[in-house]
Amino acid sequence: MSTLPPSLSKTEPAAELDSLWMPFTHNRLFKKQPRVVVQAEGMYYTSQDGRPILDGLSGLWCSNAGHRHPKIVAAVKRQLDVLDYAPPFQTMHDKGFELAAKLTGATGRGFEQVFFTNSGSEAVDTALKIALAYHKARGDGGRFRLLGRAKGYHGVGFGGISVGGMVANRKAFASALLPGVDHLPHTHDLGAMAFSRGQPSWGAHLAEDLERLVQLHDASTIAALIIEPMQGSAGVIVPPVGYLERIREICTKHGILLIFDEVITGFGRIGSLFSADRFGVVPDILCFAKGITSGVVPLGGALVQKAIYDAFMQGPEHLVEFFHGYTYSGHPLACAAGLAALEVYHDEGLFERARALEPVLEAAIHSLRGEPHVIDTRNLGLAAAVEFEPRPGAASLRAMEIFHHCFDHGAMVRYTSEIIAIGPALIISEDEIAQLIDILRNAIQAVA
Ligand SMILES: Cc1ncc(COP(=O)(O)O)c(C=O)c1O
Repeated sequence: MSTLPPSLSKTEPAAELDSLWMPFTHNRLFKKQPRVVVQAEGMYYTSQDGRPILDGLSGLWCSNAGHRHPKIVAAVKRQLDVLDYAPPFQTMHDKGFELAAKLTGATGRGFEQVFFTNSGSEAVDTALKIALAYHKARGDGGRFRLLGRAKGYHGVGFGGISVGGMVANRKAFASALLPGVDHLPHTHDLGAMAFSRGQPSWGAHLAEDLERLVQLHDASTIAALIIEPMQGSAGVIVPPVGYLERIREICTKHGILLIFDEVITGFGRIGSLFSADRFGVVPDILCFAKGITSGVVPLGGALVQKAIYDAFMQGPEHLVEFFHGYTYSGHPLACAAGLAALEVYHDEGLFERARALEPVLEAAIHSLRGEPHVIDTRNLGLAAAVEFEPRPGAASLRAMEIFHHCFDHGAMVRYTSEIIAIGPALIISEDEIAQLIDILRNAIQAVA
């Protein structure tokens, strides 16, 4: 049992906070010392007590164009005056088709169809279902296994936690996870890659473990492998040079569909629309969410290669080809926000901007090497992380205190186990990067 420092147990819960059961939050502790924001613009939140908070995490890896971008806000308001809702089953609204065409056009590389969802979790479950149904449609229904990777985060649906590799998200639900799932090892090994800048040079060989799983289960039973090209929620775990390329080769060789979960890596986070543009590796199915609307309205989806869509389009035309969908698949407000966000990313050159700022963030994050208890700093695109040695007997408390200290001193970051992650909006300035890292450095020193 860890003992909380006095600063974390000082205030009484306020009655009005009690009604909300907050997600992925230590509710009791939070309600003793709430962090509430009431406004946002560009790179900053305003806290309830009127302080500016520099957003070092683009909301939750989603507000990639900064908060309340005027063009996205205006597009959503315009849409609300025209059409609030239309069912996506057997009818559809114009903005849904418009966004689908813009997105597939921008993505290219054989992705000719998109299936809309409302979140990343739904995008993942949709992709897994597409993979299973695809093989069945081709008369290869023996392929029922889904593969994931240790430390992977694929949202919180039963499909997503089954292929996901985060123990805390799985253990309470172990009896309800999908059957036949197996996992690749993760690529995080500080002994071999600590303080790497960008992609670590060590670790491509770990992709060979996929061959081991094929030998164990036989390719004829494996439907798909899902991985995050860069693991985000586990703390910015950057793929080793050559790793994704080898994964792609092995999947192709064995007829296993490769699903990239780009819920975090999409829309400029690593300096390109999707990681295919950065790494040159093209998956068969690509999950996205978050940055598609810059976080303004929830929207997610799965992009599929044309051959996958075509495999579904075989039976009689009056029959539904895929028994799946959501009431709000491609909600008009979300599509309006998505169209505007794509325009903003393009017109303001934000992906190129992210790429240009990458060395600035890289230098800044690696300047934290040598600060107390820092055992790794790492980065890719506009994502970076600092990892700390755990405090004996108090797992993850150090990072939590650093997170609290940052918030109290004007910066929002994210903590997960012993890691602080940052992922600012693509509009951040060099001065703001310096400011963010200063606040983080002070927090690391203060909490030490
Ligand atoms: C890679 C990845 N997949 C899926 C999800 C789930 O997305 P959502 O929270 O929108 O359901 C996340 C969320 O952080 C994610 O990072």
